[in-house]
Amino acid sequence: MKNIVILISGTGSNMAAIVKTAQRDAWKDRFGARVAAVISNRADAKGLAFAAGQGIATAVLDHKGFASREAFDAALAELIDRYENPAEPLLLVLAGFMRILTPGFVRRYEGRLLNIHPSLLPAFAGLHTHQRALDEGCKVAGLTVHQVTAELDHGAILAQAVVPVLPDDTAETLAARVLTQEHLIYPQAIADLLRHC
Ligand code: GAR
Repeated sequence: MKNIVILISGTGSNMAAIVKTAQRDAWKDRFGARVAAVISNRADAKGLAFAAGQGIATAVLDHKGFASREAFDAALAELIDRYENPAEPLLLVLAGFMRILTPGFVRRYEGRLLNIHPSLLPAFAGLHTHQRALDEGCKVAGLTVHQVTAELDHGAILAQAVVPVLPDDTAETLAARVLTQEHLIYPQAIADLLRHC
């Protein structure tokens, strides 16, 4: 079985979309893949309750308990690797995981480490993507699913979706329109990857 581990920091709506798609589309039978664990760096991440309710293993590793980014990432990798099936490489999915990862951590999972970012990369890497798109007068916005590399919000683009920016949009209304697409595109991009590995 290919194990998927999902990292979250908050609501976890992308994680929930992935879990629901995996169930609806029988990823176990079609790809021999399952969401094995959901890990959060915040104990109050809402998504943890959803995952636990689906019978998925959950864990919290609070970054505030670590003296350095390297120490946190080392403990995180140790936790993640507990869910690795030795016969199959694990797929690590960042879904609203709001931490900058160290190069060593990224190298360890390179090629099997995905992220979703709420902009049309390479535009608007980093935070506050929707407000920045509005400030620039963009007529379209969107999301990007990409492989993770040591450089923040870079790496090979696997999928993108575009949404219109409407005249009276706020950062919140635009974020909601993008998020609806995230919930479709992220599970689809993961399924495409599973189909070919
Ligand atoms: C999503 O919009 C995701 O694209 C974004 O955080 C949100 C998480 O929502 N990720 C980033 O900004 C990463 N740089 P969710 O917790 O409901 O999935």
